Amino acid sequence: MEMRIYLLLILAFSQTLLVLAGRDFYSILGIPKSASLNQIKKAYRRLAKELHPDKNQDDPDASQKFQDLGAAYEVLSDPDKRKKYDTCGEECLKKDDMMNGADPFASFFGDFGFFGGGSNNQQETPKGANIVMDLYVTLEELYSGNFVEITRNKPVMKPARGTRKCNCRQEMVTRHLGPGRFQMMQQNVCDECPNVKLVNEERTLEIEIEPGMVDGQETKFVAEGEPHLDGDPGDLILRIQTHPHSVFERRGDDLYTNVTLSLQDALMGFTMEIDHLDGHKVEVSRDKITWPGARIRKKGQGMPNYDNNNLFGTLFITFDVDFPKTEFTEEEKEAIKKILNQSPNNKVYNGLRGF
Ligand SMILES: *[C@@H]1O[C@H](CO)[C@@H](O)[C@H](O)[C@H]1NC(C)=O
Repeated sequence: MEMRIYLLLILAFSQTLLVLAGRDFYSILGIPKSASLNQIKKAYRRLAKELHPDKNQDDPDASQKFQDLGAAYEVLSDPDKRKKYDTCGEECLKKDDMMNGADPFASFFGDFGFFGGGSNNQQETPKGANIVMDLYVTLEELYSGNFVEITRNKPVMKPARGTRKCNCRQEMVTRHLGPGRFQMMQQNVCDECPNVKLVNEERTLEIEIEPGMVDGQETKFVAEGEPHLDGDPGDLILRIQTHPHSVFERRGDDLYTNVTLSLQDALMGFTMEIDHLDGHKVEVSRDKITWPGARIRKKGQGMPNYDNNNLFGTLFITFDVDFPKTEFTEEEKEAIKKILNQSPNNKVYNGLRGF
């Protein structure tokens, strides 16, 4: 009898443990436990678009789902957090998090009291300059998407010995000069802050090249710009620019390419394959005559659309014909004449003589 109660207790206890263990981040992201970082990011990006509450307004759980997704991504995309999560689940990760502040940068500002005495400071916090940089990417990257790491040497503020003047502002002060005599004047008033120095630190930033991004599109890294001693650092803004491609030209979501055919193929028809940007083959075939300048279109073989990666533009292929350069013998000429069977002066007019 007693044994049974004991067992029940264990059961109850283990169930509590299961609840405590938290959410299954892997199944939220729909990935195997062995997923690579790249897979995690891809899955997250796809789901973030799909589950965005704006797009799921009739689902009452939409915002919860979206939050779960964010939490899953935050943990699994961080190798340390992921390791902890794998060994002991969400709850103990949370406890750990609370003990050692998550973001070293945030805690740095926090400990430092940078905005110190700032509670009475109603002005906007000053901000360092933004840095805008062009980021050159290949058409292949824009087709398939990619994650690019950027190493940036960034000046970072570190505590230093001594103090410095900070939060300086103009204040009206009144001085008592004598009986009935006051002087009011503007004065520059500063606080004393712990001193800081700027130290160059190497940082690795990761930017995602999303499929279908267009030239000029910007990705912002908040607070990765120029530092500001009394305020927030500016932002780093990366602007996408595409390297010219040797085979394809992009216009909007459409791709254009040129193919040169031999005269023989142009006359007799052909089957060929074009290597696409991600390596897949696009089959092009014709059994009719192809004249120089002819253009065929392949729907769905253009670039992916940025807003909906399942939509693709069109691939336009323009043909040119490579005429043979060798001379034909008299017999060959006769043979060609017979085959083509065109009358020699086939209503030729060149516009000068015509009308
Ligand atoms: C195709 O040929 C045209 C005409 O020569 C040229 O303007 C265009 O840039 C070419 N496109 C590609 C993708 O090479």
